[in-house]
Amino acid sequence: MGAQQVADRFAALYGAEPEGVWAAPGRVNLIGEHTDYNDGFVMPFALPHQALAAVSRRTDGILRLHSADVEGGIAELRLDALAPESDREWTAYPAGVLWALREAGHQITGADVHLSSTVPTGAGLSSSAALEIVVALALNDLYDLGLPRWKLARLCQRAENVYVGAPTGIMDQTASACCEQGHALFLDTRDLSQQQIPFDLAAEGLRLLVVDTRVKHAHSGGEYGRRRAGCEKGAALLGVDALRDIPYDELDAALARLGDEEEVVRLVRHVVTEDQRVERTVALLRAGDPRSIGPVLTEGHASLRDDFRISCPELDLVVDTALAHGALGARMTGGGFGGSAIVLAEATDVDTLTKTIEEAFAAASFTPPRVFEAVPSAGARRLV
Ligand code: GLA
Repeated sequence: MGAQQVADRFAALYGAEPEGVWAAPGRVNLIGEHTDYNDGFVMPFALPHQALAAVSRRTDGILRLHSADVEGGIAELRLDALAPESDREWTAYPAGVLWALREAGHQITGADVHLSSTVPTGAGLSSSAALEIVVALALNDLYDLGLPRWKLARLCQRAENVYVGAPTGIMDQTASACCEQGHALFLDTRDLSQQQIPFDLAAEGLRLLVVDTRVKHAHSGGEYGRRRAGCEKGAALLGVDALRDIPYDELDAALARLGDEEEVVRLVRHVVTEDQRVERTVALLRAGDPRSIGPVLTEGHASLRDDFRISCPELDLVVDTALAHGALGARMTGGGFGGSAIVLAEATDVDTLTKTIEEAFAAASFTPPRVFEAVPSAGARRLV
């Protein structure tokens, strides 16, 4: 759906043209999983799939929300009645953004919003962050708030953590807000410092496939929070602010100090080695050697499967099948427990790999996966 269609639908719903139309993408994470709430490194890039929002201001303290992707009419909410964890529907994401902006002292007096998104939901591709960021960017522009993008990402994370009630990190919102076309975003989640790393796989004869297993994941579910709490316990036991503070070459000594805390040992080992994998990936890409990141991605999967224990049979099947049929590397991406895997492959191998993965799913009687190519795309922006 294009900007004009979204504007036309807005006009049909609300009886006037919108003041503008904005876009914010979903993301895939190349490497750096479950490091963001440990103050570590991540490396996502934006997908061409995006959420569009047509928005106008209101002055009467009312928020009206409509989505082209959800059955039902216009939801009408009073801004002064917005309360954390009071909404279990999709409306919690955009409403949470208005709540977070107002909580931070910004004068938002209402809005009419129509949303339409092509980011697959529940696929680990940040459909919720895209909804949050597109609304935040629209309000930032319309209300002339002058907030920098990293700050919008922080406010959207707060919307998700407090208003929605999902204890996620800062990666997804920052990716949607800050990614640039043709680049992966090397982000230090401690201070949100960023470097855009050129990532033009097509020019190298490579492709990156996203395989959505269609196994739905849910972040507010207990497993994500449990991993997060385990990491925080590890940091406390080791006397550091966050696991990011354990240098890779001091990992063995740190693990020895954790003694028989078996679960914490595994979690710490994943996070510390994963931060190092992000740094290795950045170095290899900077050296112009993108094929060599394949084994690093695959190592990341083994660590998420064996140490962090958040993979599932469908994700493992994608990775194992891809590697057995010539992929350069493969791993699950996102929060885990379902969602998507990524596969790095020679362009010439992509058709065979796709077919082989689909056949493997059929043979295992799994729901057919959705496979598409991920091209590093633009971050959030105003369209009209
Ligand atoms: C989800 C969260 C992110 C991050 C990833 C795992 O996508 O929203 O903050 O923790 O999981 O890397």
